[in-house]
Amino acid sequence: MLVTGATGYVGSRLVPLLERQKMAVRCMARTSAKLLGRFAPDTELMAGDVLERASLDVALAGVGTAYYLVHSMSGSSDFEESDRRAAMNFAAAASAAGVRRIIYLGGLGDDADPTLSPHLRSRHEVGRILREAGVETIELRASLVVGAGSLSFDLVKALTDRLPVMICPKWLATPTQPIAIDDLLAYLLAAKDLPPEESQVIEIGGADVLTYGDVIREYARQRGLRRWLIPVPVLTPYLSSLWLALVTPARFDVGRHLIEGLKNPTVVRDDRARERFSIRPKGIRAAICDVLEQRSS
Ligand SMILES: NC(=O)c1ccc[n+]([C@@H]2O[C@H](COP(=O)([O-])OP(=O)(O)OC[C@H]3O[C@@H](n4cnc5c(N)ncnc54)[C@H](OP(=O)(O)O)[C@@H]3O)[C@@H](O)[C@H]2O)c1
Repeated sequence: MLVTGATGYVGSRLVPLLERQKMAVRCMARTSAKLLGRFAPDTELMAGDVLERASLDVALAGVGTAYYLVHSMSGSSDFEESDRRAAMNFAAAASAAGVRRIIYLGGLGDDADPTLSPHLRSRHEVGRILREAGVETIELRASLVVGAGSLSFDLVKALTDRLPVMICPKWLATPTQPIAIDDLLAYLLAAKDLPPEESQVIEIGGADVLTYGDVIREYARQRGLRRWLIPVPVLTPYLSSLWLALVTPARFDVGRHLIEGLKNPTVVRDDRARERFSIRPKGIRAAICDVLEQRSS
Protein backbone atom coordinates (compact mmCIF):
# COMPACT_ATOMS: atom_id res chain seq x y z
CA MET A 1 0.00 0.00 0.00
CA LEU A 2 1.44 3.37 -1.02
CA VAL A 3 0.54 6.67 0.66
CA THR A 4 1.57 9.75 -1.29
CA GLY A 5 1.30 13.07 0.52
CA ALA A 6 2.38 11.30 3.72
CA THR A 7 3.80 14.56 5.10
CA GLY A 8 0.48 16.35 4.50
CA TYR A 9 -2.45 16.98 6.80
CA VAL A 10 -4.57 14.05 5.60
CA GLY A 11 -1.80 11.61 4.64
CA SER A 12 0.09 11.92 7.93
CA ARG A 13 -3.11 11.06 9.83
CA LEU A 14 -4.03 8.16 7.57
CA VAL A 15 -0.72 6.28 7.86
CA PRO A 16 -1.00 5.37 11.59
CA LEU A 17 -4.53 4.04 10.99
CA LEU A 18 -3.28 1.79 8.19
CA GLU A 19 -0.44 0.65 10.44
CA ARG A 20 -2.99 -0.21 13.15
CA GLN A 21 -4.77 -2.44 10.62
CA LYS A 22 -1.44 -4.24 10.10
CA MET A 23 -1.15 -3.07 6.50
CA ALA A 24 2.30 -3.03 4.91
CA VAL A 25 2.67 0.70 4.26
CA ARG A 26 5.09 2.57 2.04
CA CYS A 27 5.12 6.35 2.45
CA MET A 28 6.31 8.66 -0.27
CA ALA A 29 7.50 12.24 0.17
CA ARG A 30 9.66 14.62 -1.80
CA THR A 31 12.01 14.86 1.15
CA SER A 32 11.86 11.49 2.85
CA ALA A 33 13.84 12.93 5.79
CA LYS A 34 10.62 14.77 6.73
CA LEU A 35 9.07 11.38 7.47
CA LEU A 36 11.81 10.10 9.78
CA GLY A 37 10.53 9.07 13.19
CA ARG A 38 6.88 9.86 12.37
CA PHE A 39 5.57 6.36 11.72
CA ALA A 40 6.07 2.75 12.85
CA PRO A 41 9.60 1.36 12.33
CA ASP A 42 8.49 -1.20 9.70
CA THR A 43 6.72 1.40 7.57
CA GLU A 44 8.81 1.97 4.47
CA LEU A 45 9.88 5.55 3.67
CA MET A 46 10.70 6.50 0.13
CA ALA A 47 11.71 9.69 -1.63
CA GLY A 48 9.50 10.45 -4.63
CA ASP A 49 8.08 13.34 -6.58
CA VAL A 50 4.86 13.07 -8.57
CA LEU A 51 6.42 15.39 -11.14
CA GLU A 52 9.24 12.89 -11.72
CA ARG A 53 7.96 9.77 -13.40
CA ALA A 54 11.06 7.65 -12.69
CA SER A 55 10.65 8.11 -8.94
CA LEU A 56 7.03 6.94 -9.22
CA ASP A 57 8.02 3.75 -11.02
CA VAL A 58 10.16 2.87 -8.00
CA ALA A 59 7.56 3.95 -5.42
CA LEU A 60 4.71 2.04 -7.10
CA ALA A 61 6.58 -1.23 -7.71
CA GLY A 62 4.66 -4.09 -6.08
CA VAL A 63 1.87 -1.82 -4.78
CA GLY A 64 -1.78 -2.99 -4.85
CA THR A 65 -3.54 0.12 -3.52
CA ALA A 66 -2.19 3.65 -3.83
CA TYR A 67 -3.53 6.70 -2.00
CA TYR A 68 -3.17 9.93 -3.93
CA LEU A 69 -3.22 12.76 -1.36
CA VAL A 70 -1.17 15.37 -3.16
CA HIS A 71 -1.75 18.88 -4.51
CA SER A 72 0.66 21.52 -5.83
CA MET A 73 -1.01 24.67 -4.55
CA SER A 74 1.76 25.66 -2.15
CA GLY A 75 4.71 25.35 -4.50
CA SER A 76 3.84 26.10 -8.07
CA SER A 77 2.99 29.34 -9.81
CA ASP A 78 0.78 27.34 -12.17
CA PHE A 79 -0.69 24.75 -9.85
CA GLU A 80 -3.27 23.59 -12.40
CA GLU A 81 -0.58 22.63 -14.90
CA SER A 82 1.57 20.98 -12.20
CA ASP A 83 -1.37 19.00 -10.83
CA ARG A 84 -2.32 17.93 -14.36
CA ARG A 85 1.23 16.70 -15.08
CA ALA A 86 1.50 15.02 -11.69
CA ALA A 87 -1.76 13.12 -12.19
CA MET A 88 -0.72 12.00 -15.69
CA ASN A 89 2.61 10.73 -14.35
CA PHE A 90 0.97 8.95 -11.46
CA ALA A 91 -1.78 7.37 -13.57
CA ALA A 92 0.71 6.11 -16.17
CA ALA A 93 3.13 4.77 -13.54
CA ALA A 94 0.30 3.08 -11.61
CA SER A 95 -0.98 1.43 -14.76
CA ALA A 96 2.52 0.23 -15.73
CA ALA A 97 3.13 -1.13 -12.21
CA GLY A 98 -0.16 -3.10 -12.23
CA VAL A 99 -1.67 -1.16 -9.30
CA ARG A 100 -5.20 -2.46 -8.64
CA ARG A 101 -6.77 0.67 -7.08
CA ILE A 102 -6.04 4.36 -6.67
CA ILE A 103 -7.85 6.19 -3.88
CA TYR A 104 -7.84 9.93 -4.46
CA LEU A 105 -9.23 12.62 -2.19
CA GLY A 106 -10.50 15.60 -4.15
CA GLY A 107 -12.99 18.39 -3.63
CA LEU A 108 -16.77 18.69 -3.86
CA GLY A 109 -18.40 21.11 -6.30
CA ASP A 110 -20.55 20.87 -9.39
CA ASP A 111 -18.62 20.05 -12.60
CA ALA A 112 -21.30 21.78 -14.63
CA ASP A 113 -20.88 25.08 -12.75
CA PRO A 114 -19.12 27.53 -15.10
CA THR A 115 -17.99 29.63 -12.12
CA LEU A 116 -16.19 26.71 -10.45
CA SER A 117 -12.93 28.03 -8.96
CA PRO A 118 -9.60 27.02 -10.56
CA HIS A 119 -8.82 25.02 -7.40
CA LEU A 120 -11.98 22.91 -7.50
CA ARG A 121 -11.85 22.57 -11.29
CA SER A 122 -8.28 21.32 -11.01
CA ARG A 123 -9.17 18.83 -8.25
CA HIS A 124 -11.87 17.37 -10.53
CA GLU A 125 -9.50 17.28 -13.49
CA VAL A 126 -6.99 15.26 -11.46
CA GLY A 127 -9.70 12.68 -10.71
CA ARG A 128 -10.62 12.47 -14.39
CA ILE A 129 -6.98 11.94 -15.44
CA LEU A 130 -6.47 9.19 -12.85
CA ARG A 131 -9.65 7.40 -13.96
CA GLU A 132 -8.77 7.60 -17.65
CA ALA A 133 -5.51 5.63 -17.30
CA GLY A 134 -7.45 2.43 -16.71
CA VAL A 135 -6.56 1.72 -13.06
CA GLU A 136 -9.71 1.50 -10.93
CA THR A 137 -9.92 4.87 -9.18
CA ILE A 138 -12.10 5.81 -6.24
CA GLU A 139 -12.35 9.57 -6.06
CA LEU A 140 -13.73 10.75 -2.75
CA ARG A 141 -14.87 14.37 -2.88
CA ALA A 142 -15.06 16.38 0.33
CA SER A 143 -15.52 20.02 1.33
CA LEU A 144 -14.08 21.73 4.39
CA VAL A 145 -12.34 19.22 6.67
CA VAL A 146 -12.89 20.05 10.33
CA GLY A 147 -9.75 19.26 12.30
CA ALA A 148 -6.78 21.01 13.91
CA GLY A 149 -4.16 21.52 11.20
CA SER A 150 -6.58 21.41 8.26
CA LEU A 151 -5.85 24.63 6.41
CA SER A 152 -9.47 25.35 5.50
CA PHE A 153 -10.59 24.95 9.11
CA ASP A 154 -7.55 26.82 10.42
CA LEU A 155 -8.67 29.79 8.30
CA VAL A 156 -12.12 29.71 9.95
CA LYS A 157 -10.46 29.51 13.37
CA ALA A 158 -7.93 32.26 12.70
CA LEU A 159 -10.61 34.64 11.45
CA THR A 160 -13.03 33.95 14.26
CA ASP A 161 -10.45 33.93 17.05
CA ARG A 162 -8.94 37.26 16.06
CA LEU A 163 -11.60 39.42 14.41
CA PRO A 164 -14.59 40.55 16.52
CA VAL A 165 -16.09 42.19 13.45
CA MET A 166 -15.72 40.38 10.15
CA ILE A 167 -16.37 42.00 6.82
CA CYS A 168 -17.33 39.08 4.64
CA PRO A 169 -18.43 38.85 1.03
CA LYS A 170 -21.55 37.08 -0.05
CA TRP A 171 -19.99 33.62 0.19
CA LEU A 172 -21.03 33.85 3.82
CA ALA A 173 -24.27 32.39 2.48
CA THR A 174 -22.66 29.67 0.29
CA PRO A 175 -23.81 26.19 1.35
CA THR A 176 -21.16 23.67 2.35
CA GLN A 177 -21.06 20.29 4.08
CA PRO A 178 -18.02 20.14 6.38
CA ILE A 179 -16.71 16.75 7.43
CA ALA A 180 -14.89 15.85 10.65
CA ILE A 181 -11.35 14.57 10.08
CA ASP A 182 -12.04 11.22 11.78
CA ASP A 183 -15.05 10.61 9.51
CA LEU A 184 -12.98 11.55 6.46
CA LEU A 185 -10.26 9.10 7.51
CA ALA A 186 -12.89 6.39 8.07
CA TYR A 187 -14.01 6.81 4.44
CA LEU A 188 -10.43 6.71 3.16
CA LEU A 189 -9.78 3.50 5.11
CA ALA A 190 -13.05 1.87 4.05
CA ALA A 191 -12.43 2.74 0.40
CA LYS A 192 -9.55 0.24 0.22
CA ASP A 193 -11.93 -2.58 1.27
CA LEU A 194 -14.68 -1.95 -1.29
CA PRO A 195 -15.13 -4.83 -3.73
CA PRO A 196 -13.48 -4.30 -7.14
CA GLU A 197 -15.68 -2.17 -9.37
CA GLU A 198 -15.62 0.43 -12.08
CA SER A 199 -13.92 3.70 -11.21
CA GLN A 200 -16.28 5.96 -9.31
CA VAL A 201 -16.73 9.37 -7.75
CA ILE A 202 -18.15 9.26 -4.23
CA GLU A 203 -19.23 12.52 -2.61
CA ILE A 204 -18.79 12.60 1.16
CA GLY A 205 -19.79 15.13 3.79
CA GLY A 206 -20.82 15.56 7.40
CA ALA A 207 -24.40 15.29 8.67
CA ASP A 208 -25.14 19.01 8.24
CA VAL A 209 -25.48 21.25 5.19
CA LEU A 210 -24.92 24.82 6.33
CA THR A 211 -23.33 28.09 5.20
CA TYR A 212 -19.77 29.25 5.86
CA GLY A 213 -21.34 31.94 8.03
CA ASP A 214 -23.01 29.22 10.11
CA VAL A 215 -19.66 27.43 10.53
CA ILE A 216 -18.08 30.64 11.84
CA ARG A 217 -21.04 31.29 14.16
CA GLU A 218 -20.99 27.75 15.55
CA TYR A 219 -17.24 27.90 16.20
CA ALA A 220 -17.66 31.30 17.91
CA ARG A 221 -20.60 29.97 19.97
CA GLN A 222 -18.59 26.99 21.26
CA ARG A 223 -15.64 29.23 22.09
CA GLY A 224 -17.91 31.74 23.87
CA LEU A 225 -16.93 34.55 21.46
CA ARG A 226 -19.32 37.32 20.33
CA ARG A 227 -18.78 37.95 16.64
CA TRP A 228 -20.40 40.25 14.09
CA LEU A 229 -20.43 39.19 10.46
CA ILE A 230 -21.03 42.04 8.06
CA PRO A 231 -21.81 40.98 4.49
CA VAL A 232 -20.38 42.99 1.57
CA PRO A 233 -21.08 42.26 -2.11
CA VAL A 234 -17.63 41.24 -3.38
CA LEU A 235 -14.37 39.77 -2.17
CA THR A 236 -11.67 42.26 -3.09
CA PRO A 237 -8.03 41.17 -3.25
CA TYR A 238 -7.45 43.64 -0.40
CA LEU A 239 -9.97 41.93 1.85
CA SER A 240 -8.67 38.50 1.06
CA SER A 241 -5.07 39.60 1.72
CA LEU A 242 -6.15 40.94 5.12
CA TRP A 243 -7.43 37.53 6.08
CA LEU A 244 -4.43 35.74 4.70
CA ALA A 245 -2.25 37.88 6.94
CA LEU A 246 -3.74 35.74 9.72
CA VAL A 247 -2.16 32.55 8.44
CA THR A 248 1.52 31.68 8.28
CA PRO A 249 3.41 32.72 5.12
CA ALA A 250 4.04 29.08 4.21
CA ARG A 251 0.30 28.55 3.88
CA PHE A 252 -0.46 31.80 2.07
CA ASP A 253 -0.60 30.41 -1.48
CA VAL A 254 -2.81 27.46 -0.63
CA GLY A 255 -5.12 29.72 1.39
CA ARG A 256 -5.48 32.13 -1.52
CA HIS A 257 -6.70 29.35 -3.81
CA LEU A 258 -9.05 27.98 -1.17
CA ILE A 259 -10.65 31.40 -0.63
CA GLU A 260 -11.43 31.64 -4.35
CA GLY A 261 -13.48 28.45 -4.00
CA LEU A 262 -15.69 29.75 -1.19
CA LYS A 263 -18.16 31.12 -3.70
CA ASN A 264 -18.97 27.61 -4.97
CA PRO A 265 -21.46 25.40 -3.13
CA THR A 266 -19.72 22.23 -1.91
CA VAL A 267 -22.49 19.86 -0.87
CA VAL A 268 -23.16 16.15 -1.44
CA ARG A 269 -25.59 15.72 -4.30
CA ASP A 270 -25.84 11.95 -4.55
CA ASP A 271 -26.38 9.21 -2.02
CA ARG A 272 -23.72 6.80 -3.16
CA ALA A 273 -21.67 7.11 0.05
CA ARG A 274 -24.63 5.92 2.14
CA GLU A 275 -25.04 2.90 -0.15
CA ARG A 276 -21.36 1.98 -0.26
CA PHE A 277 -20.28 2.61 3.35
CA SER A 278 -21.79 2.03 6.79
CA ILE A 279 -20.16 5.26 8.07
CA ARG A 280 -22.65 7.77 9.49
CA PRO A 281 -20.68 11.01 9.85
CA LYS A 282 -21.22 13.48 12.65
CA GLY A 283 -22.58 17.00 12.31
CA ILE A 284 -20.81 20.33 12.69
CA ARG A 285 -21.41 20.74 16.44
CA ALA A 286 -19.72 17.45 17.32
CA ALA A 287 -16.96 18.01 14.74
CA ILE A 288 -16.01 21.42 16.19
CA CYS A 289 -16.39 20.12 19.73
CA ASP A 290 -13.81 17.39 18.92
CA VAL A 291 -11.30 20.01 17.74
CA LEU A 292 -11.77 22.15 20.85
CA GLU A 293 -11.54 19.14 23.18
CA GLN A 294 -8.30 17.98 21.57
CA ARG A 295 -6.89 21.46 22.03
CA SER A 296 -7.64 21.51 25.72
CA SER A 297 -6.43 17.94 26.41
N1 LIG B 1 -7.57 19.66 4.10
C1 LIG B 1 -8.77 19.85 3.58
O1 LIG B 1 -9.61 20.63 4.11
C2 LIG B 1 -9.20 19.11 2.35
C3 LIG B 1 -10.54 19.17 1.97
C4 LIG B 1 -10.95 18.47 0.82
C5 LIG B 1 -10.05 17.75 0.07
N2 LIG B 1 -8.73 17.75 0.44
C6 LIG B 1 -7.80 17.01 -0.44
O2 LIG B 1 -6.99 16.13 0.32
C7 LIG B 1 -5.73 15.96 -0.33
C8 LIG B 1 -4.63 16.17 0.68
O3 LIG B 1 -4.77 17.48 1.23
P1 LIG B 1 -4.02 17.97 2.55
O4 LIG B 1 -4.92 18.93 3.22
O5 LIG B 1 -3.49 16.79 3.31
O6 LIG B 1 -2.82 18.78 1.88
P2 LIG B 1 -1.42 19.26 2.50
O7 LIG B 1 -1.42 19.16 3.97
O8 LIG B 1 -1.14 20.59 1.89
O9 LIG B 1 -0.40 18.17 1.91
C9 LIG B 1 -0.07 18.14 0.54
C10 LIG B 1 0.88 16.98 0.31
O10 LIG B 1 1.22 16.95 -1.08
C11 LIG B 1 2.62 16.64 -1.14
N3 LIG B 1 3.18 17.09 -2.43
C12 LIG B 1 3.05 18.30 -3.02
N4 LIG B 1 3.70 18.31 -4.19
C13 LIG B 1 4.25 17.08 -4.34
C14 LIG B 1 5.06 16.48 -5.33
N5 LIG B 1 5.45 17.15 -6.44
N6 LIG B 1 5.45 15.19 -5.18
C15 LIG B 1 5.09 14.50 -4.08
N7 LIG B 1 4.32 15.01 -3.08
C16 LIG B 1 3.92 16.28 -3.22
C17 LIG B 1 3.21 17.42 0.03
O11 LIG B 1 4.47 16.88 0.33
P3 LIG B 1 5.77 17.80 0.67
O12 LIG B 1 6.04 17.55 2.12
O13 LIG B 1 6.82 17.25 -0.20
O14 LIG B 1 5.41 19.23 0.38
C18 LIG B 1 2.17 17.09 1.10
O15 LIG B 1 2.45 15.85 1.70
C19 LIG B 1 -5.70 16.97 -1.51
O16 LIG B 1 -6.03 16.27 -2.69
C20 LIG B 1 -6.81 17.94 -1.15
O17 LIG B 1 -7.40 18.53 -2.29
C21 LIG B 1 -8.28 18.39 1.56
